[in-house]
Amino acid sequence: MTDRGFTSTQLAARAAYLLRGNDLGTMTSAAPRLYPHMWSWDAAFVAVGLAPLSVERAVVELDTLLSAQWKNGMIPHIVFANGVDGYFPGPSRWLTQSLAAHAPSHTHTSGITQPPVHAIAVQRILDHARRHGRSTRAVAEEFLDRRWPDLVRWHRWLATARDIDGNGRIALYHGWESGMDNSPRWDAPYAGVVAGSMPEYLRADLDVVTDARQRPTDVEYDRYLWLLEEMKAVRYDDTELAKVMSFAVEDVFVSAVFSMACQVLAAIGEEHSMPRADVRDLNSWADRFQQGVVATTDARSGAAKDFDIRSGRWVATETLAMFAPLLCGGLDRDVERVLLRTFEGPKFCGHPDLRYAVPPSTSPVSREFRPREYWRGPVWPVMTWLFSWAFARRGWAERAYLLKSEGLRQAADGSFAEYYEPFTGAPLGSMQQSWTAAAVLDWLG
Ligand code: SER
Repeated sequence: MTDRGFTSTQLAARAAYLLRGNDLGTMTSAAPRLYPHMWSWDAAFVAVGLAPLSVERAVVELDTLLSAQWKNGMIPHIVFANGVDGYFPGPSRWLTQSLAAHAPSHTHTSGITQPPVHAIAVQRILDHARRHGRSTRAVAEEFLDRRWPDLVRWHRWLATARDIDGNGRIALYHGWESGMDNSPRWDAPYAGVVAGSMPEYLRADLDVVTDARQRPTDVEYDRYLWLLEEMKAVRYDDTELAKVMSFAVEDVFVSAVFSMACQVLAAIGEEHSMPRADVRDLNSWADRFQQGVVATTDARSGAAKDFDIRSGRWVATETLAMFAPLLCGGLDRDVERVLLRTFEGPKFCGHPDLRYAVPPSTSPVSREFRPREYWRGPVWPVMTWLFSWAFARRGWAERAYLLKSEGLRQAADGSFAEYYEPFTGAPLGSMQQSWTAAAVLDWLG
């Protein structure tokens, strides 16, 4: 299936070897040097990649993450590995243990959240377990029984603390919560974030990615760090954050992921006879957030928008966020077809100069496009995986297959890069990124 570099078998072996190498015992580091801890959505994708190798190990990954869940239900975006340095901001900058009433006392975490993709991992674990003998199936089912209340609590927190008005869109208070840190989506909202005086700091990321142009700028970092100070001032209190944060957006992509995750979790709950009230809540959130996503879309193009809560303005960008409704569904058929044509056309996967027909994070025809700069243009394999998985789920087998085969052609260089330059296919950011290996393993599994 791969057209240069490694064969499929070699590639799968290397991906498995990579995950083993990044395994710290009960958590897999997101990347060995740049991200030496557990990241929330990385952990979910890692579990997807571990499931075909070992259902048991995949369960451990999610167990570690869920053990760090906050008492209010939030899954924090970083669970810090014990005794590992080299990442900034670390526990001493977040100070969640001493400040946040809901933070766990036994482990260090950050104080923000990340996209809720975890139900997908649970589903993949159950899928793989089904192909195994009784003891492996029992591990997966015992995990589901034990963690079901935590998964529902996580979703309930998102549906309540992060959708105060009940309009079906998730509010975020830091660009890091979107996972797409410096996407052009957040340029306008960040323009309103004015960094005040705060403790000095030294970036650690640029020691690893020495070409600074592949990472967010220093001005962006000042804002990222300033938002932590705003959160610390209100002790990470959910109600206060909604009032005081100078960055507050409704993220349409996260909202679509959440709707989809609720659909997935509700189906799992039904199949495994989980409490009816939980399944009912999950289904109602799936509907509410699907409607919330569709309400942002352009009537003709179907493109979705984010919302800047502070300025009260819609934020329309030519980024992956446009395609949010393709993940969760809900558009009229004709409009959906138009949006699919945009996804596959010259603005995205069908751009004539692309090395591989996979979606760049920002459209190459957009003014904001920067081909090497983190979320401003590069292709992220994990996004290719997410869209291919979602398309398969929506019954678009051929589209899913195309993304998978192009994604695998890209991965055949064996670098397992965090992101790639869309035209040259040059690997960028961190190498040996766990979730890139996980995507490959799922595709080849
Ligand atoms: N993605 C952020 C970083 O680059 C943290 O979530 O460090």
